[in-house]
Amino acid sequence: MPSSRPSGSVSYDNSGRVVIVSGGASGIGLAILQAFAHSRAAAVVCLDVNEPAAATLPPGAHFVRCDTSKEADCRAAVAWTVDRFGAVDVLVNNAAIQPPASYQPIDQMPAEVWQRIVDVNFTGYTLLAKHTLTRMKAQHSGVIINIASGQAHRTARQVGAYSPIKAGNVMQARQWGVEYARDGIRVVSVSPGAIDTPLVRASLERQGGGAALANRHPLGRIGRPEEVAQAVLWLSSADASFVTATDLEVDGGLGSFGAFADPYPMP
Ligand SMILES: NC(=O)c1ccc[n+]([C@@H]2O[C@H](COP(=O)([O-])OP(=O)(O)OC[C@H]3O[C@@H](n4cnc5c(N)ncnc54)[C@H](O)[C@@H]3O)[C@@H](O)[C@H]2O)c1
Repeated sequence: MPSSRPSGSVSYDNSGRVVIVSGGASGIGLAILQAFAHSRAAAVVCLDVNEPAAATLPPGAHFVRCDTSKEADCRAAVAWTVDRFGAVDVLVNNAAIQPPASYQPIDQMPAEVWQRIVDVNFTGYTLLAKHTLTRMKAQHSGVIINIASGQAHRTARQVGAYSPIKAGNVMQARQWGVEYARDGIRVVSVSPGAIDTPLVRASLERQGGGAALANRHPLGRIGRPEEVAQAVLWLSSADASFVTATDLEVDGGLGSFGAFADPYPMP
């Protein structure tokens, strides 16, 4: 059931749980980290490559340096968490990249750019899930949330790597959700629309501003990282106990706006 948190707003109960968030040093991952900390998780562990950010994490959050594209790092980070806190109850696979050099159709994309996006955005999710699932199966409980994207479901020009690889995050969640359901483990993906984070701000600067992008969302604005975090809190909690092997779009209506969005912009 929803419970109060210090700000007075409502938060789904994840108290006492041990949570790992990859890419928790920035943007959506940081908001998820903060939301779990506010909902009185027993431990919140941030796995990231951005070591200086460790100093700015919310109180009670722990930083472990981990390049999620490397299996040894993922194995060690999960082992550290289990040694220290005795469990892993929630894994949020969130660390992903969309480098400027990837804004290409595939015939112009260097193979190394494609491969790095596969390694971080797709293989990284699998490696972290693999080592977490070993522990969750032993506990006979756990929730894994894959942060995918609206571009997992529909695409645009210039996202020749990001879009199809994000689609893989949705299918990972469906496959794992089916595979591990009888182990007491739920797996769900969350597909955000455009959310105000460093990743999106960099892209907007390239495109010359955000008004058009905001207008493509029927709600008339892009989202806030906290709005994705609240969906993750709900999906992780017992309130979502019958939700698995599916995707939730948190996108201000973007996904339903369709191809008519350009010629008929919202007022
Ligand atoms: N911002 C959006 O509009 C938006 C929309 C849809 C989906 N998403 C997804 O949400 C997630 C977070 O995006 P964001 O906008 O907060 O990005 P961000 O760039 O603000 O944060 C990403 C974090 O991941 C970390 N990271 C990058 N590579 C890593 C690696 N190999 N190992 C560990 N950590 C690594 C970075 O250091 C950073 O802290 C991503 O999966 C992204 O695809 C974002």
